[in-house]
Amino acid sequence: MEVWLMQTQSLCIILLMIAGIVLRRNRKLHVRIMSLAMIWDIIIILQVELSRSAVLKASKALSNPMMLNIHVSIAVTSVILYGFMVYTGRKLLAGDNSIRTKHKILGYTTFTMRVLTFITSFWAVVPKESL
Ligand code: HEM
Repeated sequence: MEVWLMQTQSLCIILLMIAGIVLRRNRKLHVRIMSLAMIWDIIIILQVELSRSAVLKASKALSNPMMLNIHVSIAVTSVILYGFMVYTGRKLLAGDNSIRTKHKILGYTTFTMRVLTFITSFWAVVPKESL
């Protein structure tokens, strides 16, 4: 898959998350938008991994594989955080308001990690001639 297509999707996911945060008081919409963003994100990661064993190729082709490692680590952290968002979000839906602060802090952390994943993805782009 073309890199720009992946990064465009990545940007759409960030925009979706912004919409989800803006609409956080509307439970139904918030949950739908965030679920869509997270599922779409996992699909992108699978696309990257399955379409061309990207990480392996990139780690050979890039002059600085450390940058790639940082990008992959941040991306993995975001996905792990999604698990926490679903867990705390479902508790909130079930009426457990004591978990609100956790959901809020984890939510902004998850969003920040997702933006960092996008920014660092530019480090992981391998020039065509080195593939
Ligand atoms: C990346 C994913 C998510 C982010 C960044 C996020 C972020 C947030 C934020 C910032 C709030 C406002 C908290 C406050 O100001 O008190 C919120 C509220 C809430 N979130 Fe999420 N959330 C995410 C996913 C989810 C999911 C998956 C669920 C449900 C399964 C969920 C359910 C809720 C509920 C029920 C509220 C309370 C809404 C209200 O005030 O009535 N969230 N979320």
